[in-house]
Amino acid sequence: METLRTIKGVTAGIIASAAVMVMMSTLAFAGISGSKHDLGSGGSSQLGANMTTDEICVFCHTPHGSDTTAAVPLWNKSLPGTAYTTYASLGSTTIAGEIMSVGSVSVACLSCHDGTQAMDVMINKPGSGGYNAAGSELVGPDGTHKMTGTPIPVIGSDLKNDHPVGIQYGGNTHPAGEYTALTTASINGKSVWWIEDTVDAKRGKDEIMLYTRDNGGGDEPFVECASCHDPHNDSTASATSVAFLRKSNAGSALCLTCHIK
Ligand code: HEC
Ligand code: HEC
Ligand code: HEC
Ligand code: HEC
Repeated sequence: METLRTIKGVTAGIIASAAVMVMMSTLAFAGISGSKHDLGSGGSSQLGANMTTDEICVFCHTPHGSDTTAAVPLWNKSLPGTAYTTYASLGSTTIAGEIMSVGSVSVACLSCHDGTQAMDVMINKPGSGGYNAAGSELVGPDGTHKMTGTPIPVIGSDLKNDHPVGIQYGGNTHPAGEYTALTTASINGKSVWWIEDTVDAKRGKDEIMLYTRDNGGGDEPFVECASCHDPHNDSTASATSVAFLRKSNAGSALCLTCHIK
């Protein structure tokens, strides 16, 4: 998008090559590199400006020694011990699904977005001998902390003013037809669910993901932060939309993917 604005004033002769560059940068921006989730020194986030690593994934994932206290993939941050207030405490009488405690992938997002720990706290730092099970901040060669300030949209620990997460999809007192039907598959003996958007019967990342949780009655599909957000995909970033949505919410399309209204 920055590139689009920049090329407005260029002469006709270089428009064609500029157009190719725009296409290339559009492709690049569909990932993490250069996005608001790129916290390394090579990224554009102001947080990463002084960082001593240009790695991207390390702020969230480690190949070894991850935190397994919740079902989040290879998580490189100590999961927050924050006590969350869930949507259940709002007392909405129209809700039908069960609201479980914060867990699964939502707690991964909240390990940065509840505002309780620094963005560069990690378990397994880049390089040799960087492991610390409790997690600690990345420091520069001089031993000082480089990531200062938190210019980040923090949603805090009170989640009753947010769309419910850890919420059972199409809870049992909802008649069929109020929520879009899910597609299901069994992977490694575990049931998984998603909303098939492109009808190729494959669970692509653009599809709306449900996350499998056992609420005591067996595995069921739940809505979590990452049902609506893909933390790796910046393609919805624009002047009128935030980044990292699974699909554009223009015309409320994201809401209408689940809710039949
Ligand atoms: C800002 C945090 C963040 C960064 C940076 C990040 N991830 Fe993730 N990643 C997550 C979260 C949260 C999940 C779980 C949610 C989900 O299902 O997508 C996840 C899930 C995944 C998954 C499994 C689901 C999927 O989308 O395929 C893979 C694979 C993955 N990440 C790879 C990577 C790689 C490779 C990088 C670096 C290029 C990276 N991630 C950077 C947060 C991050
Ligand atoms: C390693 C810390 C970290 C994790 C983990 C993380 N985020 Fe972020 N996120 C950030 C930072 C930092 C920013 C803002 C950067 C900025 O404004 O420059 C951000 C911004 C965002 C934004 C706003 C984008 C915009 O265009 O304004 C959304 C939406 C978001 N994150 C969602 C998520 C979700 C959902 C998850 C989990 C799937 C997640 N994040 C996990 C650090 C993180
Ligand atoms: C039901 C879908 C849905 C769920 C679930 C959801 N979000 Fe969002 N989120 C959105 C949409 C849509 C927006 C864009 C709102 C806007 O444009 O103002 C958004 C915006 C954000 C932003 C940017 C706020 C801003 O105004 O800059 C952050 C950060 C964020 N979400 C994090 C999270 C986290 C963390 C979770 C889980 C605790 C979560 N979201 C769960 C749909 C969802
Ligand atoms: C991934 C699917 C999904 C998406 C996308 C989604 N929702 Fe929901 N939403 C749900 C589920 C499931 C519930 C719980 C409903 C229940 O059990 O009664 C819910 C609950 C709600 C509630 C609370 C209902 C109550 O009775 O208290 C509101 C309001 C709502 N959603 C609005 C929205 C809006 C607005 C958007 C778009 C920004 C959105 N939803 C996107 C699945 C989704």
